Amino acid sequence: MSRKPIIAGNWKMNLTHLEGIALVQNLSYHLTQDDYDATDVAVIPPFTSLRSIQTLIEGDRLAIRLGAQSCHHEPSGAYTGEIAAPMLAALACEFVLAGHSERRALFGEDDGVVNSKIKAILGAEMTPILCVGETLEERDADQVEAVISSQVTGSLAGIAAEDVAGMVIAYEPVWAIGTGRTALASDANDGCGVVRRTVAELHGQDTADAVRVQYGGSVKPGNVAELMSQPEIDGALVGGASLTADDFAVIARFKRL
Ligand code: PGA
Repeated sequence: MSRKPIIAGNWKMNLTHLEGIALVQNLSYHLTQDDYDATDVAVIPPFTSLRSIQTLIEGDRLAIRLGAQSCHHEPSGAYTGEIAAPMLAALACEFVLAGHSERRALFGEDDGVVNSKIKAILGAEMTPILCVGETLEERDADQVEAVISSQVTGSLAGIAAEDVAGMVIAYEPVWAIGTGRTALASDANDGCGVVRRTVAELHGQDTADAVRVQYGGSVKPGNVAELMSQPEIDGALVGGASLTADDFAVIARFKRL
């Protein structure tokens, strides 16, 4: 089963729209059609940059894909400060993150909330990027498999196999995010393997073979090739290194390193 790799840059709460435009222009200068044919390359800016970057992508016919970092689960309504999935779809977003560990830890989003967001994202015909991963305490307590499988199971409750097959799931050990401490390639591969096995248990092997599983956590130009050579790893969710066009371009072109 061949799955197209997907490299996505989660900018988190960084860059104004002007800085974002400059980054995407710079990135597009580095990447060629061959790169886009080989790999899906996505940027995931803050909401305030989405419209500017959508306009740039469409105006210059760039093959870079666009994603958003979160959304509310309701399609509209009295939720001051929130953004609904159909609003993101209208900005040509193809991807929306759900369950990033920072949302789980800092904004109280549990698997139930993540599940309702995934349903909203699918309902607006976009692709969820579900993030799962254990904390350091959970790793030290030998809970890695249990945590990954319960997050995947809880977050995907009630979602049809064909929808799961089209999703992206990012295995991101919390202790490796923003710390410069990357998981060993073998541990990253094992974590992604647990994600895929859990999907197989829920929806069968065909669905598990189709779903794309990313690794995230301190992915850099210097470690991406080894990570991407692992059989269970179909891509990377990149935070810090996605804020520099040169670094992100090297990561997106991992095959040519
Ligand atoms: P990082 O972030 O690459 O800065 O570790 C990854 C993420 O949060 O997705």
